[in-house]
Amino acid sequence: MEKGALQQLLSQMSLREKIGQMIQLTGACFDEEAVLTGETGTDQLPEEAVWMAGSVLGMIGGEKIREIQKVYMEKHPHHIPLLFMADVIHGCRTIFPIPLAQACSFHPQLVQEGAAVAAGEASSEGIRASFSPMIDVSKDARWGRIMESFGEDPYLNGVMGTAMLNGYQGDRSGTGTEIAGCLKHFAGYGAVSAGREYNDVEMSQRTFLEQYVRPFRMAMQAKPAMVMTAFTAIDRKPVSANRQLLHQLLRSQLGFEGVVISDWGSIGQLEEQRVATDQKEAARMAADAGVDIDMMSPAYVHWLEELVEEGTVAMEQIDACVWNILKMKNRLGLFEDPFAGIGKSQILSEESRTVAYTLACESCVLLKNDQILPLDQNQKVLWAGPYVDSPQLLSRWAIFGRHSDVNTIEAALKETGAQAECLQGCEMLSQEECRMWQVREPSGASGGIRLEDVAKIQRDDTVVLVLGEHESQSGEAASRAFLDLPAPQQELFEAVAQRTDNLITVIIAGRPLDLRAVTEKSRAVLLAFRPGTMGAKAITSLVYGKENPSGKLAVSIPYCVGQAPVSYWDMTTGHAMSQQETDNRYRSRYMDIPNKPLYSFGYGLSYTQFEISDLRIGKEKAKDDGKVSVWCKVKNIGQRAGAEVVQCYIQTLFAAIVRPEKELIRFQKVFLEPEEEAEVEFSIRVEEFLYYDEKMHLTYTNTPFQILVGNSSECVRTAGVVQF
Ligand code: GLC
Repeated sequence: MEKGALQQLLSQMSLREKIGQMIQLTGACFDEEAVLTGETGTDQLPEEAVWMAGSVLGMIGGEKIREIQKVYMEKHPHHIPLLFMADVIHGCRTIFPIPLAQACSFHPQLVQEGAAVAAGEASSEGIRASFSPMIDVSKDARWGRIMESFGEDPYLNGVMGTAMLNGYQGDRSGTGTEIAGCLKHFAGYGAVSAGREYNDVEMSQRTFLEQYVRPFRMAMQAKPAMVMTAFTAIDRKPVSANRQLLHQLLRSQLGFEGVVISDWGSIGQLEEQRVATDQKEAARMAADAGVDIDMMSPAYVHWLEELVEEGTVAMEQIDACVWNILKMKNRLGLFEDPFAGIGKSQILSEESRTVAYTLACESCVLLKNDQILPLDQNQKVLWAGPYVDSPQLLSRWAIFGRHSDVNTIEAALKETGAQAECLQGCEMLSQEECRMWQVREPSGASGGIRLEDVAKIQRDDTVVLVLGEHESQSGEAASRAFLDLPAPQQELFEAVAQRTDNLITVIIAGRPLDLRAVTEKSRAVLLAFRPGTMGAKAITSLVYGKENPSGKLAVSIPYCVGQAPVSYWDMTTGHAMSQQETDNRYRSRYMDIPNKPLYSFGYGLSYTQFEISDLRIGKEKAKDDGKVSVWCKVKNIGQRAGAEVVQCYIQTLFAAIVRPEKELIRFQKVFLEPEEEAEVEFSIRVEEFLYYDEKMHLTYTNTPFQILVGNSSECVRTAGVVQF
């Protein structure tokens, strides 16, 4: 619709119609099969509010949505189409690895392809907006939503968030197969204190702006349709009522022009946070802060009309919110054809499965390989553990995924014709853990390990143990104070480790776990962060060498839970710990564990070896050119094809304020045949070196930065020093 016509539509709308656009309700108001992803409370909504709401969430089904849309538009005074939104977080029906896993691929183009598949399937089923990508910098393994992020690094979150947005919103406008993306949760939610879900967030303004806002700043280039407010507060001001964040920072500084949507109930929760005296005050605060859509709280639906009529909230404010919403619907072509994408894309097509398989392969990280992997298809191998015959490879955020679509590892092994015998060994969770995680206990569960399975293992057998968290143990509302494997699986691991010297352990989880024992007693460890629909095929292909692992950790694996939160970019300190002073207690250290994580950000092994050489930088005219160029060579010096992720970090050598130990600034995944060599060039814009000085002014003047290049955050060499 032309802009003029859209403006005319806005001018013709009644106040109730306008407020209706600012309300989002659960699809359960229209369809009992809708997926609930939040608490609904007891609020009985007036019938008129249901048919006036501008968007719904959690529904799926092309023909069902078509029918509801027809009735809705007929009833609506100006026939404005309803927008169907949902949490398509890592796939719609073809489920890709969780975002934390996708980040480990360090392959943004592949992530973008996956998002485009998700957009096709979602739009085909009537959904035209997703609450994704989530780009909360997350470095605390105790927080269940780390699985939904792209890990601990701000730059990687920004790159992957941009890629996913481009996949969703793509260049397919007018086809109806694109969907609106939503950057979330603005901002800082990943730093909840003590890793406890929905807890307060305490951080300096510098850390907030330089580390936690950075992915949002980067992803603005992809023109996100929406940004979602975090449940949490920044400097004690809840984001959903934080005008300074939403107007000055998000819209003025970052240039965001889309729709600000609250998180589920986060406006109403202002009363619970004791910053609003009641729901009417909560509605006033959020409208003033510039929240365009109230997702599932009673505030806007019950109080906004009265606030406008009494003059507390200006009509101009309402018009600005509704204008953002109408523009988003118009950008999706809903006014021309609200049914455009329905039925247009095939669900779970071979092409979609191929993208999911490739992404699952590239998302797995080989942490250890003591000359045992890859296995030979023809050697006898025992595969054991509760995951061997389980379809639990998805996640709680795969809300439309179906376990019936998931091949198990046992089935994948049969397809490959490998000489494999499968043993379950134990249940995934103990009975107590089933109760804690609200998981139905499997019928006839014994609780302990199956001794008859363990007894089959002989000393020289090769055993692949597939262990890990249950799907329910990560995602939203899933914080943990321990990072252990479930009890039965720990018992099984110890029993098997005593019986064989040839143990390979595959870990499936939604977060980093405490892998000390697994690492110590396994000859190889492969980490698969919830790998999705094609996960089983990917795992077996990697174990038998059909594919070569290329994943790198997007999040540190802490030595133990006591080390959380930990990241490679933690700030520099006094009393700095050094390798030479291990007996000096007066250092920034723990006395009972090392400072370093068990495995560091950016680390991951391959079945081949690579050599990075010839590091150099072009700095002479950096400031005049407006960029710093960095070059190096990477060569495959092994016997088989593979991919290396060349990483470039900057390290502030001196500044008047404390800065991160180092910061990822570029990376490139390079695929090479044996003996093949490639030159890698990174071009870094000088403004990317900016940081906030003592007066909170952005600067890089007279600050020496060291440029580091390598294949993990721990394994880097200097390419030179630049100063502007
Ligand atoms: C949830 C989550 C948010 C999600 C929304 C809708 O509470 O915090 O990420 O998109 O509600 O399900």
